[in-house]
Amino acid sequence: MTVSAAESSAQPAVLEAAGVSVVVDVSGGVPRILHWGPRVGARASDRPFLRSLAETQRGADGLHDSMPPAVLPEQAAGWMGTPGLEGHRDGTTFSSRFVTAGHELNSAAGRQTLNSRAVDDDAQLELTTTIELAPSGVLRLRAGLTNTAPVSHYTVDAMRLALPVPAEAQELLDFAGRHLRERTPQRRAFRVGTHLREGRRGRTGSDAAMLLAAGTPGFSFRSGEIWAVHTAWSGNHVTFAELGLTGERVLGGGELLLPGEMILAPGEIYTTPWVYAAHGSGLDEVAAAFHAHLRERGSHPSSPRPVVLNTWEAVYFDQDLASLTALAECGAKVGAERFVLDDGWFLGRRDDTAGLGDWQVDRAVWPDGLGALVGAVRGLGMQFGLWFEPEMVNEDSEVARAHPDWILAPGERLPIAGRNQQVLNLTLPDAYAHVLESMSSLVAEYDIDYIKWDHNRDLAEPGDRTSAAPRVHQQTRAVYALMDELRRRHPRLEIESCSSGGGRVDLEVLQRTDRVWASDCIDALERQQIQRWTGLLLPPELVGSHVGAPTAHTTYRTHSMAFRAATALFGHFGIEWDLRQASAAELDELAAWVELYKQERDLIHSGTAVHCDHPDDAYWAHGYVGERAERAIFAFVALGTSVAAQPGRIRLPGLNPDTVYRVEPIHLSDSALVHTASGPPSWWTEPTTVTGRLLGSVGLQAPMVYPEQALLFRLVADGGTHTENTTADIEGRS
Ligand code: GLA
Repeated sequence: MTVSAAESSAQPAVLEAAGVSVVVDVSGGVPRILHWGPRVGARASDRPFLRSLAETQRGADGLHDSMPPAVLPEQAAGWMGTPGLEGHRDGTTFSSRFVTAGHELNSAAGRQTLNSRAVDDDAQLELTTTIELAPSGVLRLRAGLTNTAPVSHYTVDAMRLALPVPAEAQELLDFAGRHLRERTPQRRAFRVGTHLREGRRGRTGSDAAMLLAAGTPGFSFRSGEIWAVHTAWSGNHVTFAELGLTGERVLGGGELLLPGEMILAPGEIYTTPWVYAAHGSGLDEVAAAFHAHLRERGSHPSSPRPVVLNTWEAVYFDQDLASLTALAECGAKVGAERFVLDDGWFLGRRDDTAGLGDWQVDRAVWPDGLGALVGAVRGLGMQFGLWFEPEMVNEDSEVARAHPDWILAPGERLPIAGRNQQVLNLTLPDAYAHVLESMSSLVAEYDIDYIKWDHNRDLAEPGDRTSAAPRVHQQTRAVYALMDELRRRHPRLEIESCSSGGGRVDLEVLQRTDRVWASDCIDALERQQIQRWTGLLLPPELVGSHVGAPTAHTTYRTHSMAFRAATALFGHFGIEWDLRQASAAELDELAAWVELYKQERDLIHSGTAVHCDHPDDAYWAHGYVGERAERAIFAFVALGTSVAAQPGRIRLPGLNPDTVYRVEPIHLSDSALVHTASGPPSWWTEPTTVTGRLLGSVGLQAPMVYPEQALLFRLVADGGTHTENTTADIEGRS
C-alpha cells in the first residue's frame, strides 16, 4: 500500500507479530513510534484512540511540552534531547525539519515493512526510514539521508535512531567486558540524562553494550517487562538510553562517525546501520525473539553443527605435518568432525610479530603445502577449516614492505601497534583484491569448508595513509563486501566471526557468518557466564564453545572433564586441547561427551533457551526445551559454594503444564554429585515421572553439587519421543 503526502491520512500504521505491536504515527514529519510493546490487537474503532497517542501534552509555560519522539528526533518537532541528525553545510543548515512525502506499508512472508520518505526543501535533504517487524517479533529500524542539493556538500556528524519506551522501564541492563571476559552484565537505574555506550574501537568490541535492555525493576530471565535494543554494526557505534525532563524515555543506536568521515556530495546517500529491538516478558522471551529472528535467516546453518577440533591451544604456533596429523587422528577417534588449522601456517608466521597479510602457505613449515594435512583430515572423515586475519598486516611482512600505503593510518605516521600489527586499508581496491584473491585461491585449492575469520586489534587512528581521511565506515563496509564476495564465490563456505575471542558479535556480521567465537577464555566457569549472556542475542548453534585442557591456559583453573564438556555442550561444541597429551581414560570420556553432544545437538540447536531464576547466586540452572515441549535438557550448575547447606528446589520453566515428563539423569555428569549419607534425591536414581506443572511450580529437589561442576538431566514426555540413553550414559562414571 503506497500513500502519497497529499492523501497521507492521520491514521497510525499498526504492525503486529509474535505478540508484539508497533504503532507508528505517519501523519507528518518523521515517523513516530507511539507504542512498541505488547500486542494491541487494534480494531478500526480503536484508531481515534491510537491517533490521540500522538498528541503533544503542553507544559504550563510552553517550554516543557511532551510528545512522542520521532525515530529520528528533531528539535523542529520540539525534541530537546539528543538529536537524531547532526550535520551541516559548511557551518550552516545545522537543523532539519522534515515533512512527510509518503509512506508504504508492505507485508511479505509475515514481515511487515513501513517505508517512509520525508523531505526538507530548505535544508535540501531527503530522509527515508524503514521500520520492519519480522515474524519473530523483532523490530528493526534504519534510515537513509540523501543530499539533494545541486552543488553543495552536506556533512553528517551523527545519525541515530530512537525508540520510545514507557515509564515502567526503570532499570537498565547492558554489558561490559574485555578480552577473556566478554559480556559481563551491568545494571543501573534509568535516571535523567543519557547512558551512552560508545564503541570507538573500529570493531564491535569485547566491551560492546551488545544489548541495552530497559525493564521494570528487578527484571530477570523469567519476570519483568523488557524492551531491548542492539546496534548492528561492526565498526564504531553508539547505543544509548535517555531520559529527559518531560519524562520521555528512549533507547537508541547508530554509527559513530569520525570527524569528516561522512561528507555527502550532491545526490549521495548515507544509510545508518540497523537498530534491532525486541520486547518481552523476562529476558528469556527477549532472547527467544532474537533467536527466532536469526533462525529465520535464509543463510542460517541447517546442517548439524559439526564437532570442531581447533589447533590453537593444542600447538599454538608450533605447526608441522606429523604433529597435526597425530592431533587430527586423536580428534577423529573421539568423534571430531571438523579440523580447524589456526594461526601459524602462512609466510613467516612463527610467532605474532610477523607474517599477517602474506596469505600463502609457508613452505618452511609446510614444504609440500597443506595438501597432505588436508588429505589426512578428510581421510579421517573430517571437514577442513583454516584461520585468517584478513584485515590485518604485520609491518614485518612482504605485503607491508611492498605497500606501506596500504596501512590504515592518520597520515604519514603509523598508529600505536596492537599485538605487533596494523590494519590493512581494505577500502583501497588493490589491497582489497590482494586479500580477496589470496583467500579465494586457497579456499578453492584446498576446498576449504570453514574460515575462522579473526580480527585482533582495535582500529586506532584509522585513516587513509595518503589522504589522511578517516576510514572506519568504509572499512567496515569493505569487510562486509569481502565476506559477501567470498561466500558468493564459494557458496558452501562457512565463516566464524572471531575478534580476539568474542570481540565481533553483532547482528550485521551475523548476516554473513555462521558462528562466533565467544571468547578466548575456555575456562568452563568463565564460559558459563560468557555463554549465558552471549545467549541473550545468539542461539547456541552460533556460539563456538570448546572443551579445553584440564587446566585452562588463560586462568590456570583446573576443572573436571564433566564440567568442561557440560559447559561446551550448550553451544557449537568443539575441542581445543592437545589430545596427544590426554590419557586413554580422558579420551574415552571425551568421546562419550562428543556422543552426547551429537545426540542432543538437534534439540539444543533448535530449542527454546530457558533460565531458572534460582534465588541462590551460587547456582544456575538453564536448559533448552524442544518443539511442543516434548523434550528438554537442563544443566544445574554450581558456580561456587553457597552459604546454604542445601541448594533447594529448582523450578523448571518452559514445559507443558499438562505433559507428564520422565526425568532422566545424564550419568556422564555424576562426578558433580556430592557424596552424601543419603545419596542424591530419589529422582536421580529411580524412575520418576512428573507433570510440567509440578516441575514449574514446585520444582525438582536439586542434588548437592560440588562447586564448579554441572549436573545434566533430560525431561522426556512420557509417551513422547524417547531416545535411549547412550552407552556411555548407561555405563556412567562411578
Ligand atoms: C586470537 C583468537 C584465538 C586464536 C589467536 C591466534 O586471539 O581469538 O582464538 O585464533 O588469535 O593468533
